[in-house]
Amino acid sequence: MGELLFTGGTVVTAEGSYRADVLVENGSISAVGASIGSDGIETVDASGLMIMPGFIDAHTHMDMPFGGTMTADDWATGTEAAAAGGTTTIIDFALQEEGGTLAGAFDAWTEKARDRAVIDYGFHVAITDLRDDIKAELPSLAAKGVASVKIFMAYKGTPLYTEDDDLFETLQLSKDAGVLVLVHAENGDAIAKLQQQALARGDTAPKFHALTRPEAVEAEATNRAIRLAEVAGAPILVVHVSCAPALEAIHLAHERGQTVYAETCPQYFAFEYEDLAREGFEGAKYVCSPPLRDPSNRPALWNGLKTGDLQIFGSDHCAFNYEGQKELGKDDFTLIPNGIPGAEERAMTLWTLGVREGKLSENQFVAALSTNQARIYGAYPRKGTLAPGADADIVLWDPELSTTATVDNRHGNVDYTPYEGRSFTGGPAAVYVRGNLVYKDGEVVGERGSGRFVERKFTATKGLEVRV
Ligand code: URP
Ligand code: ZN
Ligand code: ZN
Ligand code: ZN
Repeated sequence: MGELLFTGGTVVTAEGSYRADVLVENGSISAVGASIGSDGIETVDASGLMIMPGFIDAHTHMDMPFGGTMTADDWATGTEAAAAGGTTTIIDFALQEEGGTLAGAFDAWTEKARDRAVIDYGFHVAITDLRDDIKAELPSLAAKGVASVKIFMAYKGTPLYTEDDDLFETLQLSKDAGVLVLVHAENGDAIAKLQQQALARGDTAPKFHALTRPEAVEAEATNRAIRLAEVAGAPILVVHVSCAPALEAIHLAHERGQTVYAETCPQYFAFEYEDLAREGFEGAKYVCSPPLRDPSNRPALWNGLKTGDLQIFGSDHCAFNYEGQKELGKDDFTLIPNGIPGAEERAMTLWTLGVREGKLSENQFVAALSTNQARIYGAYPRKGTLAPGADADIVLWDPELSTTATVDNRHGNVDYTPYEGRSFTGGPAAVYVRGNLVYKDGEVVGERGSGRFVERKFTATKGLEVRV
């Protein structure tokens, strides 16, 4: 591959914004500067656009078995949806099968991604059964370029659910292995009990998904996980923080100086509890965990993103069709597969509701979508920045691009979008992965199978040092 020069745009990184050209050579950035000579070089006119590092989405579920079915997006359609939202790397959850090993999860996910991914990718391995052989195997993950594992404190009654003793030991082992532990923090026991009680009363509609997962069950588990990490002396990352009480536990940990990373997601800003209570069975389209909350939580979440208590913004893209999948729970909300699509809408939501509304700067936007993700998950500085030596993963962001989401213009493989009719201002005009154009003006043009595995290496950064 030859040279490519992006001219006339404004470079926007986590650190600042300035007018500069960006030179790409052989898939890497070779220079960022005010006036790079363009003689004989193919140029891309970025006038009126922002040149940003490609976005990283470290929370996706492609081709994953869950709730008795498989997620609707595989690695082709799921990464195409992500690319259409400006994402150039995803980090997806490879699930340890019942009776299976961590290497088995890695191999299975490698197979799913190979020949399909249009953007780069890595894996977290979700540990679902911490047998003795898995304890012995865990340290081998780092050498495979897997810098993170995941534990589910929720979903009691499914193979994902993990008790505190195994969470605690995973934290201890991971600390020694140089691996970061991610937690889905909700109290699985309390939820299971509340669900049983609701069903016994005949409360079967989608809204009871939220009513049986109150904010306090998330806050309790968040605090418990953080305190167990403190005892283990391990860093921890709390995914999909949805409400102020859970964030409060994270804030208090930061005040104590504990290394706690935390993520929030677009659905907690775009939607709310009332969406679950929509007429008929429409609410099923909004079932995800933790559930959609009362909008009164939003000021705290925005503040968390601004102050750095929440460092990253991931999609938790976990798509299921309405027909045949969400419908599994028509008579029992506990059977509705949990999850909604959002990889395509992640950045547009954060720009429209966050940057345009003055809640975040454009640099904080880049930090939450790209730079902090790369730093925390151990892909920096190859990913997450625009600097010589970095992969030429580039988003040409049009701050005024006006789009309206509808199921027909989505790039994923889902028969509905929760964002139906939603208008965004700001979006990607073009997206490049290692210098290759993968998306332009509404069309995904990247080749399936061109995405590459990104080896990551976790280095604990004190939680507050990743603040922007
Ligand atoms: O509802 C959700 N979030 N589904 C995906 C699995 C998970 O808990 O992240
Ligand atoms: Zn989760
Ligand atoms: Zn704080
Ligand atoms: Zn998830």
